[in-house]
Amino acid sequence: MSAKILDGKAVSARLKDELKEEVATLKQQGIQPGLAVIIVGDDPASRIYVNNKKKACEYIGIHSEEYALPAETTQEELLALVDKLNHKADIHGILCQLPLPKHLDEEAVIAAISPKKDVDAFHPVNVGKIMIGNFDFLPCTPAGVMELIAEAGIEIAGKECVVVGRSNIVGKPQAMLLLHQHGTVTICHSRTKNLAEVCRRADILVAAVGVPELIKGDMIKPGAVVIDVGMNRLPDKKLVGDVDFEAAKEVAGAITPVPGGVGPMTIATLMKNTVRAATIAQ
Ligand code: GUN
Repeated sequence: MSAKILDGKAVSARLKDELKEEVATLKQQGIQPGLAVIIVGDDPASRIYVNNKKKACEYIGIHSEEYALPAETTQEELLALVDKLNHKADIHGILCQLPLPKHLDEEAVIAAISPKKDVDAFHPVNVGKIMIGNFDFLPCTPAGVMELIAEAGIEIAGKECVVVGRSNIVGKPQAMLLLHQHGTVTICHSRTKNLAEVCRRADILVAAVGVPELIKGDMIKPGAVVIDVGMNRLPDKKLVGDVDFEAAKEVAGAITPVPGGVGPMTIATLMKNTVRAATIAQ
């Protein structure tokens, strides 16, 4: 039997419609949420992400500003821009698209963003709040994954959850959010022994490593929920996830496609965080 497809495109479209209504109400109160997106250099994948974020802002009615800086931008110039945006009254959210060119210090840039405008939830203050379970913003991709799981009516409490990948952007916060929902969580990474065996224990498997089709059909427990965060461009330009979708869908109970699964959910959460930032700024 083929797995149920978790349609992130459809769920995100609904969330964006809800946010559009919320923004219309805020506008009547004289509040227009504003998002500033900083992109440094010309990484083609980052360019696509930033364009999609801009389109979502336009649809919902969020004011958006894009700061496209050349690859040679210095740390001082970037920090000066962040400081300016921290003080800009019509900007409630600041997002600096990662990765930054190698000569720039990502950690310092993230720390310079006001935690109140940190709609990515990457600032150490927000990361700490998430750890405690008392937060204003959730990181966009892990929160989008949680929304998709909830939307499908999938219970997390007591389930074996395996997260493959330990990045600060996805793996680590994803594990924490699953733990908040009472999952029994295992985090796997490049040094994990018997990855296949650990994955096969998962009732809910989240793949976020950036290795094309690493997760094969025989690494999945029959009926499991498989969430694929990967977005990998193959040499022939085909876009694939971290899961071998064709094989996995024959084993899993539910699965996200790539594209059209987690990706659109990330953007919907970013929009939600921006609206929230504008609301709590009042
Ligand atoms: N690069 C890949 N994912 C993200 C994200 O969620 N936020 C930012 N700022 N950069 C990214």
